[in-house]
Amino acid sequence: MRILAVESSCDENSAAILEGREIRSLVTVTQSVHQSWGGVVPELAGRSHLELQDDVVLRALSAANLDLSDMDAVAATCGPGLVGSLLVGYHYASGLALALNTPFVAVHHMEAHLWSVELEREPANLPMLVLLVSGGHTLLILVRDFRDYEILGQTRDDALGEAYDKVGKLLGLSFPAGAEMDALAQQGNSNAVALPIAMRDKSLDFSYSGLKTAVSNLVNTSSEYFSAPLRNDLIASFQRAAIQSALEKVRLAFVGRHIRTLAAAGGVAANSELRSGLQNIAEEFGVPLAVPPMKYCADNAAMVGYVAAKHLSRGHGMADSKVRPRWPLSELNTVSNRNC
Ligand code: KG4
Ligand code: ZN
Repeated sequence: MRILAVESSCDENSAAILEGREIRSLVTVTQSVHQSWGGVVPELAGRSHLELQDDVVLRALSAANLDLSDMDAVAATCGPGLVGSLLVGYHYASGLALALNTPFVAVHHMEAHLWSVELEREPANLPMLVLLVSGGHTLLILVRDFRDYEILGQTRDDALGEAYDKVGKLLGLSFPAGAEMDALAQQGNSNAVALPIAMRDKSLDFSYSGLKTAVSNLVNTSSEYFSAPLRNDLIASFQRAAIQSALEKVRLAFVGRHIRTLAAAGGVAANSELRSGLQNIAEEFGVPLAVPPMKYCADNAAMVGYVAAKHLSRGHGMADSKVRPRWPLSELNTVSNRNC
């Protein structure tokens, strides 16, 4: 089974070709139009996807040495995300499927991130605890099976990646700031600046807006925070507080639960401190850690194709697919009575 998958939910345009579990090709282009705006501009994102879509798909086909006629199914992310961006990938992919007379598979973006933990490795032993951390989401999920998800905790305000991006903006870094801050944190002293770790209670929810406000209050007091070495100390201290709070919740989630795999996915799963902290927790509880290779942490179409394959192997029909900018992960459960 060969699947052509398309991802266009935000500012990455990506196409991948999967054959069984093998990723034959993956082409991802990050839109550059947003950089000077300090965030993704929805209208510009939609227009840029229109310009990129055809070329990205053709490059993915050529890299796999395949033609459209070799495809058995076409998939696209249908939500959640920016409506104008989603519409481009959805119409492109569903139109192709119609023309090729193949099935079309509608994929949930966060579910694709969730299962990206299995890309290029053996399927995970379940139940699996997944920390899903991106620019828009911070979720702690117990995965019992495909479509059997229990959301144990989520952010009450900002997402973890959003906190990175907002603090980066405060410090004059370009958007998105997470990867650059991760690198700068290595050059700073994480004990230099005292910052709060929120929600140190028994709940598995997260909160990052207080941490961001604490950084904002500090940078308003002194211009020294805008240049090294103090800037790097501040970033290192922010990273320690932000990651520490996520790790505390992960450790707490193990208490009283049967968990056979620990996993993390989404753009922030690329973070070096998060990865090493999760490795320690996995060793502490004697379970394997599944985190995707870096190229599958950020938005990409390989993860979309992988979830599409799961749908197709289960015979899921997609006749009523549509774009859903808001699409809670909890709505995907096929098992009732879960606390979502
Ligand atoms: O999953 P993703 O590519 O897009 C969304 O669906 O949001 O995640 C992007 C987020 C951005 O907030 C970016 O700053 C963050 O992931 N990010 C990181 C790192 N690399 C990317 N945050 C912390 N450390 C990193 N190394
Ligand atoms: Zn994403």
